[in-house]
Amino acid sequence: MHLRKVKDVEEKIKEYSDIVVFEPNLKKGKWKEVFKNDNPIYLEIGMGKGKFIREHARREKDINFIGCELSTSMCYKSAKEVDSELTNLKIINYDAFKLEEVFEKGEIKQIFLTFSDPWPKARHEKRRLTTDNVLNIYKNILDKNGFIEFKTDNRELFEYSVIQFTNNNFEILELSLDLHKSKEDVITTEYEDKFRALGQVIYFIKVKERWRWILNYIKNYHQCMVLVAMKLKLENMWKSI
Ligand SMILES: C[S@@+](CC[C@H](N)C(=O)[O-])C[C@H]1O[C@@H](n2cnc3c(N)ncnc32)[C@H](O)[C@@H]1O
Repeated sequence: MHLRKVKDVEEKIKEYSDIVVFEPNLKKGKWKEVFKNDNPIYLEIGMGKGKFIREHARREKDINFIGCELSTSMCYKSAKEVDSELTNLKIINYDAFKLEEVFEKGEIKQIFLTFSDPWPKARHEKRRLTTDNVLNIYKNILDKNGFIEFKTDNRELFEYSVIQFTNNNFEILELSLDLHKSKEDVITTEYEDKFRALGQVIYFIKVKERWRWILNYIKNYHQCMVLVAMKLKLENMWKSI
């Protein structure tokens, strides 16, 4: 999305401190305090002007939403559109590649990746929002039963991302090669509206990390057993003294 930088945006955005969370890294592990409730947190990465996340927040009051965006001008434009009654929506001006600075392990229940920049050239691959590197970051901030939803108009980015999710131990829960044909009442983004008006199909995938909870369970169980065995051995030694 190409938006000319808003003049004096660093100053202007300060007017929206009720919606924009400045220095969000200071809120790591404390997002429940920010929203003043225990509701699950859904995060949109690269929200642009924020239409999609605003509509989600308006419809789903028992979910907390955070829109993450690299461009301060986009954050400002988006914050201006938020109704004051939407207390379940916050905006952070942050880079997706640094999200572990902002969220504790498991603090996010769902991630939306909406029309991420495709970066088609191979030399720019590392900037895509579905590289190995950034998928590991998502795994760390997602709840063990958390989901990622990804949608795009770009076939190459979609194919690349499906392979990436599969290679990085994600299980595919839903996949559509024409989202608006397979689902009704889809909440759309600004880009989605633009591409649909041009007659382009929208690709969609929903994934969940595979089996990690079982691996953690086995690891914790094994550690417990080792501790119990050590305790029994020490007790026996003590009795024999
Ligand atoms: C193509 S636009 C899509 C905007 C919106 N999701 C939509 O569908 O209308 C991609 C957005 O992702 C943002 N973005 C790109 N890289 C990012 C990153 N590393 N972290 C956060 N946002 C990023 C860009 O600034 C841009 O606003």
